[in-house]
Amino acid sequence: MKVIAKTFAGLEEVLANEIKEIGGLNIKSEKRAVWFECDKKLLYAANYTLRTALKILAPIAEFQFKNVEDFYKKIYEVDWENYFVEEKTIFIDKVVYSQMFKNTQFAALKTKDAIVDRFKDKTGNRPSVDLKNPQIKINLYVKDDFCSLALDSSGNPLYKRSYRVKSHPAQINEVLAAGLVLLSEWDKKTELLDFMCGSGTIPIEAALIGLNIPPQFKRKKFAFQNWKDYDKELWESVIEEQMNKQSLELIKIFASDISQESVDMAAENIANAGLSGYITIRRSNFENVKFNSPKHILFNPPYGKRIGNTKEDNILELYKKIGDVLKNNFKKSQAWLITSNMQALKNVGLKTSKKIILYNGPLESRFVKYDLY
Ligand SMILES: C[S@@+](CC[C@H](N)C(=O)[O-])C[C@H]1O[C@@H](n2cnc3c(N)ncnc32)[C@H](O)[C@@H]1O
Repeated sequence: MKVIAKTFAGLEEVLANEIKEIGGLNIKSEKRAVWFECDKKLLYAANYTLRTALKILAPIAEFQFKNVEDFYKKIYEVDWENYFVEEKTIFIDKVVYSQMFKNTQFAALKTKDAIVDRFKDKTGNRPSVDLKNPQIKINLYVKDDFCSLALDSSGNPLYKRSYRVKSHPAQINEVLAAGLVLLSEWDKKTELLDFMCGSGTIPIEAALIGLNIPPQFKRKKFAFQNWKDYDKELWESVIEEQMNKQSLELIKIFASDISQESVDMAAENIANAGLSGYITIRRSNFENVKFNSPKHILFNPPYGKRIGNTKEDNILELYKKIGDVLKNNFKKSQAWLITSNMQALKNVGLKTSKKIILYNGPLESRFVKYDLY
């Protein structure tokens, strides 16, 4: 089957590489997405192991339509009963750019009606809608008179890894954090250091990568488990196979933050992920973190909103200090940082050796590298 994995803008090539590594075929990248061919086993493995995918959609129909009635009719004609049974709850996840509908919600409503009516006619029963925890997520994409329908095989987005017990107001998305570690080409031998670790997302994703632990090792629920063709034995064999690939490499990660609240939060998340043995965590102002041996530094400084101890007016000063600390405290290291504050970034005052454009949610960001001598 042909499926499409969604990601953040800027991570398409990283995701395409991940898909290649697990054996995806005919891989094609487009904006914020990568197409590939797979069988059922690989679809399960993709959900379990891809670190930079947000969700994996399995397209089931596409068509052009003349008006709303025609739209309803063509959705009704899809043999939905082949994909799931009417006892399952459904939700229509919509992206609609079309003048044919009063509003996007109306397009979703018509889709739901067509599916429900089809089930009623075929089986006498109807699936009900669940907005919060649907078992079947149907992805509706409409552009003008073109419609594509897909089943979302992931359900909850794949950045929900299940290790997070505490949330930080400025936490980075798990998928983005994993993407940063992969883009930074960490060699897994050098100690990785995040001295503004917040809730610990970057250290946790790095540890999972370093140890080759699947990002979803704690997650129990995926939407494909509610599909009619779900093969429990196959799924269990995928879990076993992937967990056996865990590496015994001795990785080292150092995480610190100025805020005790952040440090406690990170410690809880790290413990919940079972990674306490690999990540040293400490409360410290980054200005006091100093090492003589080379480090692989990767961090996500405040962007300028009021976060913890950092106020808007001293953000420029903070970035200047980042430059000084990198230069003076980390000889022979490489440092990567991501920020969407371009003005503040200039204040670091060091020459970048790489600059990558990425998006942190809606925020256009720069992921930059400094080689420190
Ligand atoms: C954008 S947040 C990092 C979020 C983190 N990547 C996560 O996913 O939770 C920036 C962090 O920098 C910390 N910070 C601000 N000033 C600092 C300083 N002088 N030294 C160390 N940490 C600092 C803040 O406490 C905050 O947790």
